[in-house]
Amino acid sequence: MVLPDVANETLTRARPSASVIVPADGRGVDRAARLLAGGGIAALPTETVYGLAADATNGEAVARIFEAKRRPRFNPLICHVDGPAMARRFARFGDLAERLADRFWPGPLTLVVPLAEGAAIHPLVTAGLDTVAVRMPRGVARDVIAALGSPVAAPSANRSGRISPTTARAVRDSLGDEAPLILDAGPARVGVESTIIDLSGDRPVCLRPGGIALADIEQVIDQPVTRADADAAISAPGMLRSHYAPGLPVRLNATDVRPGEALLAFGSGRIAGAGSAVAGVNLSPSGDLTEAAANLFAMLDELDRSGAAAIAVMTIPADGLGEAINDRLARAAAPRETP
Ligand code: TXA
Ligand code: MG
Repeated sequence: MVLPDVANETLTRARPSASVIVPADGRGVDRAARLLAGGGIAALPTETVYGLAADATNGEAVARIFEAKRRPRFNPLICHVDGPAMARRFARFGDLAERLADRFWPGPLTLVVPLAEGAAIHPLVTAGLDTVAVRMPRGVARDVIAALGSPVAAPSANRSGRISPTTARAVRDSLGDEAPLILDAGPARVGVESTIIDLSGDRPVCLRPGGIALADIEQVIDQPVTRADADAAISAPGMLRSHYAPGLPVRLNATDVRPGEALLAFGSGRIAGAGSAVAGVNLSPSGDLTEAAANLFAMLDELDRSGAAAIAVMTIPADGLGEAINDRLARAAAPRETP
């Protein structure tokens, strides 16, 4: 691909320029692909959350992601592909990986598999591991990858340790000018990150519950998936306990709203004190977990800005997508850790 002016501009300027939000139409896709081809970074919509993307084979470009996010370098990134064929260029797919990709790609499922010998993926992407996390996203991000012709490393487009962005606006609020180009495709449909399944060991292990329910995965591979221990920091280096933290303290399974608190409600039930909450929003008045997942990060962010002293969260069922929602809420409520 020819090196375009826009990429040169980004590379030679000492300070990042003001970020621009452009529609995720054909021109936007082209512009993002050219920027990535020139070693730049761009924020792209995926069906789960917005990602901050770079060419996964270009170490300097990938380093820019870590700088923009202030992300610790021991935390590896997901490689996004435009289809299974691109994945097989650098990753070793066994029978279970083939079955899962066949059933759930494109979609919110990331597979951790052995890295192929001599793969062109830069070691910064995998943090030097001999495995690689791979996912085929839906829609615009996939179009950009196809135009680039190369796998794209992309973590969620937020400052490390903060809430993942589900809108272009939230990307800009979190990263400011560090994301030079943001493609806007409206609110992300799924709203929580992909489910991560590690297939590199003897048994499949879930490293992060996410947009695909574990029960659906178990049905396709016809065997149980082990849940990674919440403290198993080695197998999922990025899963710091306090990840996804809003600024305010979060109180889970609230059965009342205390003075000064904002309320994150779920379902049609009412709890004591709800009427005097500083602010109140409902993840899904009808109790639909898919709707709740889609609303989760934007609503946490909204309450975070409400001027309340803390956020009280009602109980959310743990089945289906509820597992991912409860995982993110538990991290939001955990004591803060420095990444
Ligand atoms: O939905 C998503 O997965 C979004 C969108 C943008 O695709 N991406 C995302 O990326 O959530 P990120 O970087 O926020 O989370 C990736 C997780 C991290 O916890 C990281 O430690 C883990 O994947 N990971 C990446 N490569 C790994 C590997 N080889 N082994 C184990 N865990 C890995
Ligand atoms: Mg993230």
